[in-house]
Amino acid sequence: MPFIAPTDRATRWSFFLQWLKNPMGVAAVSPSSPQLARQMIAALPSGTTRIIELGGGTGAITEQLLLHGIPPQQLMVLELNEAMHQTLRQRFPDIRLHLANATDVHRLATESGFLHEAQADAIVSGLGLLSMPKPLQRDIVSEAFACLRPDGRFVQFTYGPASPVAREVLDELKLTARRVSFTWWNVPPATVYVYERQRSTAVPAQPMGRRSA
Ligand SMILES: C[S@@+](CC[C@H](N)C(=O)[O-])C[C@H]1O[C@@H](n2cnc3c(N)ncnc32)[C@H](O)[C@@H]1O
Repeated sequence: MPFIAPTDRATRWSFFLQWLKNPMGVAAVSPSSPQLARQMIAALPSGTTRIIELGGGTGAITEQLLLHGIPPQQLMVLELNEAMHQTLRQRFPDIRLHLANATDVHRLATESGFLHEAQADAIVSGLGLLSMPKPLQRDIVSEAFACLRPDGRFVQFTYGPASPVAREVLDELKLTARRVSFTWWNVPPATVYVYERQRSTAVPAQPMGRRSA
């Protein structure tokens, strides 16, 4: 495996400067901790090898995904902020990186050929979904699930006390939400949620003779 430099002081500082410029867009004062990133990884479905990361920032989670063994060419990362995109490009030259809005993830994954090889096993998101308007949340989550295998997972962290994806959005997209872990070792402390498609609850067919009116 190539050497992967850990998030250093200059990277943290540049993250903070981007937050000063756009607090709502960046949605955190500092990059995620390795502990939080590892909790996100622990929530991946077993056998995961293909991942799309939304809102890569300066690469705190990207770094841990690569250290975990995800091959760089099986990792597609979207980041909207130009300076952060530039940092990601320098730190991880081999990943499939796009300067793009998460709302375009399905189109980009299709056009770039990422989805031609296979659907993604998981989406890992560091987006500030909680503070987004519901229609935007809906667009992003729906586009993300269009990239996922049937039992794929959308793994998201939040600094809030409840699911960052609104109940209306979950119901409309027929998704389930599960709180899977929490860590104090992050600024601020964070909770990890997993979203999956609802499993169909097919009613087993009854033998003809036993049907009641
Ligand atoms: C809370 S930071 C998380 C950064 C990094 N994943 C981490 O955990 O340290 C959210 C990131 O999402 C990016 N972002 C916000 N809205 C986005 C969008 N619509 N599409 C892509 N990236 C977005 C921000 O620029 C920022 O880098």
